[in-house]
Amino acid sequence: MAHSELTAKTGELLRAMTLEEKLGQLTMIRIDAESAGTLPAEQLTAIREGRAGSVLDLKGPDAIREVQKIALTETRLGIPLLFALDVLHGYETVFPIPLAEAAAMDPPLWHATARAAAREAAANGIALTFAPMLDVSRDPRWGRMAEGPGEDPWLASRFAEAKVRGFQGEDARSGIAATAKHFVGYGAVTAGREYGSIDISNRTLHEVYLPPFLAAVRVGAAAIMPALSDFAGLPLTAHPGLLRDLLRKRWGFEGVVISDFHAIAELITHGVAAGIAEAAALALKAGVDIDMASGAYLDGLPEALARGLVLEADIDLAVKRVLALKARLGLFDQAADSEGYSLPGEVSAEHRALAREAARKSIVLLKNRDRLLPLPKAPRRLAVAGPLADAPGEMLGPWHCAGKAEGTVSFLQGLRAALPDWELSYFGNAISGGGETIRKADLFLLCLGETANMCGEAASRARPQLPDFQRKLFEDVSALGKPVIVVLTSGRPLIDSATFEAADAVLAAWFPGSEAGTALADILTGAVNPSGKLPVSWPAEVGQIPIFFSQRRTGRPADPAIHNTSKYIDVPVEPLFPFGHGLSFTEFAYRNLRVSPGILQPGGRIAVELDIENVGALEGEETCLLFIRDAAASIARPVLELRGMAKIKLAAGAAGSVAFELTAEDLSFPADDGSLCLEPGCFEILAGPCADPEKLLCSTIHVP
Ligand code: BGC
Repeated sequence: MAHSELTAKTGELLRAMTLEEKLGQLTMIRIDAESAGTLPAEQLTAIREGRAGSVLDLKGPDAIREVQKIALTETRLGIPLLFALDVLHGYETVFPIPLAEAAAMDPPLWHATARAAAREAAANGIALTFAPMLDVSRDPRWGRMAEGPGEDPWLASRFAEAKVRGFQGEDARSGIAATAKHFVGYGAVTAGREYGSIDISNRTLHEVYLPPFLAAVRVGAAAIMPALSDFAGLPLTAHPGLLRDLLRKRWGFEGVVISDFHAIAELITHGVAAGIAEAAALALKAGVDIDMASGAYLDGLPEALARGLVLEADIDLAVKRVLALKARLGLFDQAADSEGYSLPGEVSAEHRALAREAARKSIVLLKNRDRLLPLPKAPRRLAVAGPLADAPGEMLGPWHCAGKAEGTVSFLQGLRAALPDWELSYFGNAISGGGETIRKADLFLLCLGETANMCGEAASRARPQLPDFQRKLFEDVSALGKPVIVVLTSGRPLIDSATFEAADAVLAAWFPGSEAGTALADILTGAVNPSGKLPVSWPAEVGQIPIFFSQRRTGRPADPAIHNTSKYIDVPVEPLFPFGHGLSFTEFAYRNLRVSPGILQPGGRIAVELDIENVGALEGEETCLLFIRDAAASIARPVLELRGMAKIKLAAGAAGSVAFELTAEDLSFPADDGSLCLEPGCFEILAGPCADPEKLLCSTIHVP
């Protein structure tokens, strides 16, 4: 629909609407027909009467078509419904969880998996996803770390761009609207406790938590969801400073703001609204267009209007935005009986291949003592154990949409298929069940970690570690004196240094998705050389949390030899594995960092190049990370700031170079109002495999 046509259409509809119909457009209802079995009559009546404009959680093309038909043909104005779902990492084909994909450090892959998820979701009638989740997270106690891109704002911003573009695509039929969430700072909830308070500095807000959202807005994200939490006392659902002044006015966001689940009514529980009319008025005034599942707009706005807490013009503005989104998604052009939603079989096969590729690229090899991996070519006796070894449903992780356990390849199934000549046994969760096969095994593979419900929403853990029975299993197996490989399934770094120290090889597989077993087997057998790198610092101890590489410089940097320095007296200050850590079966040498020109001219660029050589015996792919360090500024800057990543694939013995470009923006930092400022002085440019300063090459440039 052309812009002028759209304005005319929304104007016409608005004039025709009753107040209740307007509030209906601002109301999203939840229909979970999967658990209810049938479509609930009461909600269908609400739709018929124009009291709902969008629907959350309804799945399946037939159910969606049926409900849409009611909206189009049985309501007074025939306005189509918008069907929304949390499509985070796949629809039917499930890709690795976002934290896992972040480990691939691969924007084209991030784009491709979002595209595939959007195609499947759109083919099933879904028009909007509550993704990407862009909360920078530096606290593994917070279960939702699993849903996001990890600890770094630069990486999260690239993730935001790739995901928004991937979900939304170019055309309304195969794209779905993306919702950047949870605006903003949700990853910093106090003590990692879900739904807790956010209280961060203005600097941290602008430097760490806002950039991914700005990146999403810049590439045209259709919607934004405020976090459920309060920000220094004011719930984000009712935050005019951040939603209206910053997001809409300064950033120019023209899309739709959708509340989180029940968040508007919860303003009463937060203690900032006396009743439903006040809650509804606060949210609407702050700029929230759609009320997800709290009923606050329908129930509270008529009274708020009568009491002068809101104007009808405020309501109209929100309705216009909702209608504009529906038009952009092509919903008005859809015929009631639009022939079906379905995907050709070859597309599903393509998506499965992509899921396998994404999972391979997401797995991080954390440790590989004496090159235990890849597995030897000659068949051996491998004993597999642990609760995640043959648990296909668990491989899908949180928010797995229409993904099913049937059709998901478990680790054990993948290994059996890849190692047909090996003697492979599986003995559950305790070695007492293993008997003779255990005594005869040459090596052990333990699949440990979290089940899907141990991470994600409302799954904060004060002890993000292996459950006791898994530690016991590990200890019993290691006492046998045979090599032990640990494969970790989790939505965060699990903190269990003693176990990882004792294990011979450790892999972080996260929640790998539909092709978990095939991808793991590809890596273990060496068919694919691992290339994933940690998107979060992996703590050595829970007490180190929050831990992240871009810590601000202190006046007393940690020095084990000097007592009064910034460290712990009982545990190390370094993470167990730094951000960017991830081993390969080969080795790479970094050399010859070249930076030119040495002075950044106004409007100019700095070219950064370096050589990487594959000094091992196998082909492999390496991701080189680029950091900056501002030597002296008016504000103490982080010890390292990520500014680039580049991949290179090298045959054994081959060398090549990777290149980056830095601009003034890359060397700037936010002033108090969030605008970027570039200060003159000296900057170190550092490049290497990870955020361990000792592994980085360094050169210097000047900004006059
Ligand atoms: C979560 C959101 C999600 C919504 C709808 C909420 O509880 O916080 O991330 O999009 O539910 O499922």
